[in-house]
Amino acid sequence: MTFTFVVLLCFGLSLRPRNPVLAGVLPKPTIKAEPGSLVTRGMQVNISCMGTSDAQKYLLFIKTLKSVQHRQTSTTHGEKAVFLLNSIGQYDGGQYYCLYETTSGWSAQSDKLELVVTGIFKNKPCLSVQPRHLVTSGENVTFKCFSQEEYDTFILIKEGEQKHSMIMESQKTSAGQFQALFFVGPMTSSSSGTFKCYGYYKANPQVWSEPSDHLEIQVSGSAMNINLSKDTSKPKTASGTQNHTVENLIRMGLAGLVLIILGTLLFEGWRNQSWTYHEAGK
Ligand SMILES: *[C@@H]1O[C@H](CO)[C@@H](O)[C@H](O)[C@H]1NC(C)=O
Ligand SMILES: *[C@@H]1O[C@H](CO)[C@@H](O)[C@H](O)[C@H]1NC(C)=O
Ligand SMILES: *[C@@H]1O[C@H](CO)[C@@H](O)[C@H](O)[C@H]1NC(C)=O
Ligand SMILES: *[C@@H]1O[C@H](CO)[C@@H](O)[C@H](O)[C@H]1NC(C)=O
Ligand SMILES: *[C@@H]1O[C@H](CO)[C@@H](O)[C@H](O)[C@H]1NC(C)=O
Repeated sequence: MTFTFVVLLCFGLSLRPRNPVLAGVLPKPTIKAEPGSLVTRGMQVNISCMGTSDAQKYLLFIKTLKSVQHRQTSTTHGEKAVFLLNSIGQYDGGQYYCLYETTSGWSAQSDKLELVVTGIFKNKPCLSVQPRHLVTSGENVTFKCFSQEEYDTFILIKEGEQKHSMIMESQKTSAGQFQALFFVGPMTSSSSGTFKCYGYYKANPQVWSEPSDHLEIQVSGSAMNINLSKDTSKPKTASGTQNHTVENLIRMGLAGLVLIILGTLLFEGWRNQSWTYHEAGK
């Protein structure tokens, strides 16, 4: 249904597709944003649309809660068009998708690209953590994001891991402030990092406030936790028990490897020697 809407929209914008009957038969293009899909107000963003080499025209649309709008047309011929969005602002946040046209008709629409613009609302929220910044592995941690401003929703992000952000609706406290509590649960050493939160309004979920001040969390834990948590699927959150089995296994494995290498070297050396003796003896 959305697609029919888009086709109608194309007509409305007098883009004159020659053969609307074939609309949507070509494979969908791939849409991507550079430098990324979480951008600060004022930045430049390039949205690229990858279609096929016989594409003759590319269209970029933005969908917000209220409407779908045509944003840009590119008459670049070839498999990629780049749309430049200069000085990103409040009206650039939304879901983007693109289409292309070849002589045989229009493509299906690309997947949606969610472009979030931060720094739009000047009232930045505050971020705090319980019980403290420096925790030991296995301890539970709760973040609190709060503001005097009536943001509907708060979002907690760990630097470099936008995908694992947490979203919470805000609650009004008796003190008249708006807040969200993010229970993160038992920490592991890979939970260390820099956190920040943003506020936004549900009416426009891709337009966010200025970020809170950064909050650095350090998790000190048993040595074995370091960089093993990702390799093993079994949860090893109970690291407080100081189970050294895994660590010892690794040490033994390494020792074995060293022995094998030494053995090979010795053997090679011995073989070389016997060769030389043979040749000398000849
Ligand atoms: C966007 O594209 C322009 C022109 O190709 C280029 O100069 C600029 O560096 C690009 N910006 C980003 C953020 O990739
Ligand atoms: C952490 O929270 C979980 C779930 O609420 C609870 O079962 C566990 O006992 C807590 N651990 C600590 C160390 O408080
Ligand atoms: C784990 O190792 C990777 C690279 O091997 C590194 O980028 C990452 O920071 C390490 N994580 C921790 C918690 O040490
Ligand atoms: C240590 O962990 C291994 C599996 O990872 C388990 O089989 C063993 O019983 C544990 N030992 C102790 C003392 O908890
Ligand atoms: C064996 O001898 C050859 C030539 O005599 C030398 O090039 C090679 O590096 C030697 N290999 C080892 C393992 O010492």
